[in-house]
Amino acid sequence: MPRKKVLAANWKMYKNPSQTRDFFRDFLPLISGNDRDEIVVCPPYVDLPTAIETAKGSNVAIGAQNLHWEKEGAFTGEISAAMLLDVGCTHVIIGHSERRQHFGESDDVGNVKLKAALEAGLTPIVCVGEVLEEREAGLTEDVLRRQCTRAFYSISARKAGKLIVAYEPVWAIGTGKTATPQLASQAHLVVRGEAAKAFGKEFADNLRILYGGSVKPENAKSLMAEEEIDGALVGGASLDPKSFAAIVKY
Ligand code: PGA
Repeated sequence: MPRKKVLAANWKMYKNPSQTRDFFRDFLPLISGNDRDEIVVCPPYVDLPTAIETAKGSNVAIGAQNLHWEKEGAFTGEISAAMLLDVGCTHVIIGHSERRQHFGESDDVGNVKLKAALEAGLTPIVCVGEVLEEREAGLTEDVLRRQCTRAFYSISARKAGKLIVAYEPVWAIGTGKTATPQLASQAHLVVRGEAAKAFGKEFADNLRILYGGSVKPENAKSLMAEEEIDGALVGGASLDPKSFAAIVKY
């Protein structure tokens, strides 16, 4: 059976609750009845209740952009998986390159966050991807292998059930430079190979691997045509309802 694609929006630190409401007012009619793929929108924490309330009854799931790995505790400024679930989130992004770059998040932190998300029943979207220097040095495969091995460490196939991975080459994020569909496919094969090692071939065959990095309405179709590409994680182009709807309808 072909894997169902996932079109996910990562709003990063953009939009307040009223802008979130406006977005859904315009976006939902544009994609109503579009049930070919799964659609997920990940706004900032403070927008989650508004997004969840506004998208209720639609085919759009709501996710967070981060979580803390503990259930609760003295962790000022942090949000737990249980809190996200309680508010109505179903998905959560883990290990985005901006978290790695600006907040020092390691592969190992990604692993504990992944375990917390899975245990709580959230669908994690784990991000991996090389920086430009690594690609130029021919290290892309090594980097992807390391990131996957560490992220998947000591998680069983049964526990990993809902896992989604996003391959996001860092040099393509917010730069307007997109990986070619072929180059993305090659990276996805490496990720799928690591998933097979960690969770077995059947799991890996069913794993959705999204591409992220300057996905736009103009390039979505050719990326989504690749057998290896099971959807997209979209930053900049997901902020505008028309542009994200065009990507959803690639
Ligand atoms: P971009 O961001 O689409 O703006 O390149 C993608 C991401 O960071 O998830």
